[in-house]
Amino acid sequence: MLSVNPYATLAETISPLAIQGFILAMLALIVIGTVVQMVHHKNVTYFFNNAKKAKLAAERELGIGEKTSVILKTVVHDIATTAELGAGKRRIAHVMGMYGTILFWVASVVLVFAYTGTGASESTIWPMIWHVGAIMTCVGGYWFWLFLRVDVLAEAHPWYRIIKADLFVLALLACATTGLAWSYFQSSGSTGLGYLFLVLFITSNIVLFGGVYWSKFAHMIYKPGAAIQKNLAEADGSRDNLPPLADAPKQFGLGIKREQPKHY
Ligand code: HEM
Repeated sequence: MLSVNPYATLAETISPLAIQGFILAMLALIVIGTVVQMVHHKNVTYFFNNAKKAKLAAERELGIGEKTSVILKTVVHDIATTAELGAGKRRIAHVMGMYGTILFWVASVVLVFAYTGTGASESTIWPMIWHVGAIMTCVGGYWFWLFLRVDVLAEAHPWYRIIKADLFVLALLACATTGLAWSYFQSSGSTGLGYLFLVLFITSNIVLFGGVYWSKFAHMIYKPGAAIQKNLAEADGSRDNLPPLADAPKQFGLGIKREQPKHY
């Protein structure tokens, strides 16, 4: 199953053009959802106003080379490893889910546009990347949702309590889970279950990409932007209008690190 391209098998009954059209429609939903969210929540206006204010407070102007170096360091250190989640399980789960999702999405596009349809060549590596990506998304995502969510870990809410903020993670998990189940049943010849999970896979994709406006989907765009802005503000001395760090040892005690937050 791992080396079988599920889209190529599907293209024996559904036109490859319809499958490609579906992927393009999902891309369009991401763009529309993100733009409408930006306009409605005014977060980009806030972001640029903040950047303008920070520029006025800058102690020195950064050259192109320095800016590029700050941006590259932020991408490699902060963004690629989700450094803001600190060391620990939360970061490992996020990194696993994030790279899993990236592999799953990239492999979906490659499989559908390059390896599906009559006359298309076969690949064994891309179907494997697709399946491994979906499995990594499930491991990281279920770990986060069942055990690491703040309201489950620290506030003693049961894992099955669902709120609007869970829309993104649950839709993402539904996509990866039903995608794997569809591929499994389709390649094992269970036509009925194959179609059932195909319908669920399509539905969860529509919920994930159609829900961008309401969900946390766009954090994958905003978070990197905010990290770059923060590090540029530190390098040019504006520090987002915050006072400079004291040149003295920290004496705050252990603070919140004293014990795990479990005050039920
Ligand atoms: C393909 C890219 C990404 C995917 C699939 C992804 C996925 C997720 C998921 C499923 C969650 C849990 C959402 C929830 O709170 O219900 C999450 C939370 C989070 N993500 Fe991402 N993410 C991506 C990129 C990024 C990037 C680039 C950053 C930062 C630079 C980032 C930072 C965070 C943070 C700080 C949280 C909150 C974690 C927590 O509450 O413990 N994410 N992400």
